[in-house]
Order: sequence, then structure tokens, then C-alpha cells
Amino acid sequence: MEKTIPGEKFDLGVCYYPEQWPEAMWADDYRRMREIGFTIVRMGEFAWNFFEPEEGVFTFDLFDRAIDLAHEHGLQVILGTPTATPPAWMTYKYPEILNATFEGVQYQHGLRRHYNYSSPIYRDYCAKITEAMATHYANHPGVVGWQIDNELNCEVNVFYAEADHKAFRTWVQEKYGSLDALNQAWGTVFWNQSYSDWEQVHLPRPAPTKSANPHQALDEKRFISDNTISFARLQSDILRQLAPAQWITTNGMFGHLDSHALTDELLDFFSYDSYPNFTTIWNDADRRDPLMDRSYSNQLTKIRSISPTFCVMEQQSGPGGWVNTMGQSAPKPGQMRLWTYQSVAHGADMLLYFRWRTATFGTEIYWHGINDYHNRPNRRVAEATTISRELGKIGELIAGSRFTAEVAILHDYDNEWDGEFDIWHGPLTKESEYSWGKALQFSHIPYNYLYVQEKTTLGDLSRYKVLIYPHPAIMSEETAELLKQYVAGGGKLIFGARSGYKDQRGHCRMTPFPGLVAELCGITMEDFTLVLNEATTPHMRWIDGGDEASTPARLFNDILHPENDNVQTLALFDGDYYAGKPALTRNPYGSGEAYYFGAAFSREIADGLIRRLGLAPATTGWAELPPEVEVAIRVKQDRRFAFILNYTGKPVKANLLQELEDLLEGEQVSVGELEIAPYGVKVFAL
Ligand code: GLA
Repeated sequence: MEKTIPGEKFDLGVCYYPEQWPEAMWADDYRRMREIGFTIVRMGEFAWNFFEPEEGVFTFDLFDRAIDLAHEHGLQVILGTPTATPPAWMTYKYPEILNATFEGVQYQHGLRRHYNYSSPIYRDYCAKITEAMATHYANHPGVVGWQIDNELNCEVNVFYAEADHKAFRTWVQEKYGSLDALNQAWGTVFWNQSYSDWEQVHLPRPAPTKSANPHQALDEKRFISDNTISFARLQSDILRQLAPAQWITTNGMFGHLDSHALTDELLDFFSYDSYPNFTTIWNDADRRDPLMDRSYSNQLTKIRSISPTFCVMEQQSGPGGWVNTMGQSAPKPGQMRLWTYQSVAHGADMLLYFRWRTATFGTEIYWHGINDYHNRPNRRVAEATTISRELGKIGELIAGSRFTAEVAILHDYDNEWDGEFDIWHGPLTKESEYSWGKALQFSHIPYNYLYVQEKTTLGDLSRYKVLIYPHPAIMSEETAELLKQYVAGGGKLIFGARSGYKDQRGHCRMTPFPGLVAELCGITMEDFTLVLNEATTPHMRWIDGGDEASTPARLFNDILHPENDNVQTLALFDGDYYAGKPALTRNPYGSGEAYYFGAAFSREIADGLIRRLGLAPATTGWAELPPEVEVAIRVKQDRRFAFILNYTGKPVKANLLQELEDLLEGEQVSVGELEIAPYGVKVFAL
């Protein structure tokens, strides 16, 4: 079942913390929210002490009043379960609920997310608070849905409390059944690691070097993901049972969590927290023409693979920063609106700003919301009002429509998690996804992510003309078979270096590289090498390239050997001891083609492939756009909506080839030059 926002309507709102403000301010806050046009607020997610001030004593007075008043003002309420912030009385009494570092040092009270998911005591407390809140608010007409916890696996996504080691032991026991099977899977014969008693089995622990058993390290991530889901399930089961009329979601996409399984199994839809200004501090300075805030489109693309329509539970509205870290520059006038439409263009049908007013105390005194401390009108309130008016006009029209794309990047959790540890393939995937995302973005070719899962079908793949699976080192027989069927049926599939050589345990296969996809690609690897020195990295040169610049074949080189006459070599290495050997090949297979590139993809190489594959911009026939803008198209029945987003602080010029209806301005725009304002947005009906 697809996990989408219920109903075809658009809700715009804001995160609100009634417990942080004098009660006398609430009515005016709600009145002004409605004045802006907000219809929804989220609250409660850090307020455990207000719901259970002491063990077993549940009180709802403050939130009853806050929710009743919101409802009276016509605001719907999303309630967060407060389990991201266990109270001091609890952690003091039961320190075993706290998380610990890899070295075993216990975290303490004083920030948030300091707990572990494994402690039966903590789980019990979480069940009780969820039960109490669900019972109390199940039939409140103002409460429409629930957010479980807050940002599962944010801030810390590894867990080393005693309870975690124990839970991991149970998990491996269930997975492997016997110590023999565990020893086999983890290859413990290597360096005499074999276990002879389950009690000896732990999560990775400190050892003489920073390394660990790689198979154990992969299982650790799988365990964390399963454990997070089982922690959330405890709450979702209670909510489903006690509050069946209200929907359930959770927010944020973080490491070591299969957010697809989490959503499929527990939630009605997924929610994301979008802070595009993180790129002003996290942008990798050495990248040429960086994507900056536009890279959040790639994030939203991943979210859309979980929920075709989703909620942005926290959309950046002001400058971000904790007191001592994450300081960011202020969003420029227009960027809050731009980022809102970035989310909407990618599938958000519900969006809440973080936050109504900047906190005057605590870690986030510099994480600015729509209102400043002084509470007087400012440019962010004005911008929110404009957005709200616009979405009031077009929200219902576009709600429920689906982003459309002919290309997808394949991704999977096993390779993500294994690649975090394995430096022979993980860094390649990061580089290649970034490059492909950028090349497709700048070419105005919308793309999706498709996460390869056990339940993935040929039908899921066949929706796309072209699939890019950059570096699937781990591959199951089933996935290899599915990919073959996709290509045989006419699909075009592109692999990068290090594909297909590991099994699901992370063991290397004793067949020539690229293992399970060798036959599909019609090649084997003659030789291979890590490429460590940027300055001496060999280039690849297109055989049909004419003047096309040769480009570095980065990070890893697989030197390819065509295994049959049908395999066409498209590019050669032009450096090192393998100069003149094939770097990129194409193998006709059934009605389709399999490509193999023996390195990580750069934007230039992705561009070259886009040209040779004949992929056309989504604007073909109706517009010509400059590279500075992104285009996204959402479709509902026979209606198509095109979003055009200018990420620069300068006006840019587009060329319309057709007369189009500008939905935000409510007017027809004629053929010819069209100026898009700095940080400007256009929404056209096609
Ligand atoms: C996250 C959290 C919020 C807040 C913001 C800003 O998204 O969910 O509670 O902390 O970051 O830091």
C-alpha cells in the first residue's frame, strides 16, 4: 500500500511549543497563525515532564488547554510522543536506560536523545506514556495525527549500553540460530575470532586499531535499524489500537534506519525535516559549481521513494544554529518561499515551519523561527503569509499529484551500511550519487530514487527508461536476476566500479569481477586498483568523443575486459599502466543495454552518458531553462504541474515555447522570454 498524505488537501503550519511560553501569549499566537493562513500545528514532542511529572502520575491540563485553544482557533494538532527526551527523574532512577559511547561511557541527562532503544525499562515507560496520551487524546476533535518520538537516530545512531549488547546478542541468535552459522557468516576463523558461547558475542567494541570485523559491523547496522523499528512499533501498535482515527508518522531520515521498512510496517506516511541552509556550513568547499541548497532536492527525492506524497514536519524558516555549533547564515529574502516550493515540487502535501518563535532560552536560542523574540512583524512572517496565500490558491489542485521521472538511481541499505565501513566502495557511492544528481539536475531531467528491497518487482524497475546503480558491491542472486530481466525487457542499466562482488554477508565471491553482473555486462575485470592520488588519477577518454575533454576516472579503477564481440567499448583509460584499456563498456542484452564504468562517476561522465543515451529535458517542447533553475513535474490524472525554481540571488531568463498558465499569478504567460526573479518560483499548468 502506498504511504501518502490522506485526502487531497494541502496543510501549511508550524511547530509550536506552548510549554515554553506564558499561557497568556497562546491566544494571540494562534490568532496570528490563522492570520498567516496556517491550518496545522505540531506540539508536545519534548514535553514528557508535563504529561508525567512523576512516575505513573499523568497530567494533561496544560496540553488540554493548549490543544483546546488551538482547536477553537481552527488549528489541527499533530501530537508528538515525548520519548526523545526522557525526564531526569527517570534517568536518575534507572541509569540503564541511557545510551553509551563505543568506549562504554554512559551519556547523561542534559540534552536529548540520550537513551537507548533496548532497555526493557525504557520501553515500558515509553509504552505507558504513549498509552496515556493516546487514551486521553484519541477522540479529541482537534488532534489529527501523531508523530512518534522525534528524529529517530538523529544526533547519535550507534548504541553501546549494556542493554544494547544484550539485545544484539538476541538478534544474532534469532538471525543465525547457531554459533556455527554465526561464525561462518562473520568469518571468525580469520584471526581466531570464533565464538563458543553466545555470551561472548557483542556489538563491536574497542580493539587495538579503529577497525572491526566487517561482517559484524554490517550486522550492527542491520540490528540498529531493526531495533529502532521495534522501538517505534511499540508506540505505533498502541496508537493504532487506542487512537485508530488519527494518523501516524515520524520525522527525519537518519543513518542506520531502514526508513522504508519503518514506514511500510508502521506509519501512514513519512515526514522529513528540511534545513537547506545546512549547506552554507557543510558544503564541501572543493567541489566546483556546488549544488548548495539545491542538494536538498536529492534528499527530498529519497524521501519521495518512501512516501510519494509526504509531510515536511520542519521546514527551515530562519537562520539555524545551536549556541555552540551549526551556526548558519540567515536565509535571504525569498529563500524560505523557494525552499517551501522545493519541498512541494518534490511531493510535500503538508508542511510545517520550524518554529513559530525563536526560543529565548536553551540550546536553540539561535535556531530562529518565523517570529523573532520580540514578536513584532518581520520579513519571515510576511513571507510565510505570501506562501500561505499562494498555497491556499493552488494547494488543493496539486495535492495528491505525483512527481514524474523516467530515470532512477538505485540505492539500498545493505550497501549504504556496508559502505560506511568499507572504504573500497562506500566513498564511491557518495561521489557517484552526487555527480549523477547534479548532472541530471543541471540537465533538467527529473529523477527518482528506487531503493532495492526484497519486495522490489520487475514492474517497479520497468517504470524507468534508465536506471543507474552506481556501486552495488553487495548483491543478492535475486536482485541480479531482477536486473537481468529489466535489461532483457528493454531497460538501460548503468553500473560503476565495484559492482556485484560481495554476497549479503559481505563475503567476496570467488568468481571474476563483477561477480553476479559479469554476464549481464559482458565483461570481466582484467585488473583493478584503488586510486588514491587525485593528481595522478588516470583519465577516461570517450572513443567517439572528438574534442570532448577527457575526465578523471576517480577513486577506483576497474580495468575492463570485454567477454564477447557484441560488447562495445565506449571509453578508454588514458593513464597509468592500463592506458588504452577499456574504462566504459556497453553490452546489448535482450532488448536493452547494460553499461559498466570502471570508476566513480563524475558530473562530466554522467553528462556524457546522458547525451549518449539521448535523455531529453523534461521541458522539451514547452521551455528552455538556464542551468541555474530546477524543474520538477507533478502529475494528477491528466493534469501536469511544472515547478520552476531559481536557486540563485539573481534574476534568470527562461524561454517559453508555449503559452502557459501561471498558477501562482493566475494569468496566461505568452511565448518568449520569461524572467524568473532572484530565488523566484513559477508553477505552470502544462
Ligand atoms: C531538528 C529537531 C528540532 C530542532 C531542529 C533545529 O530538526 O527535530 O527539534 O532541534 O532540528 O535544530
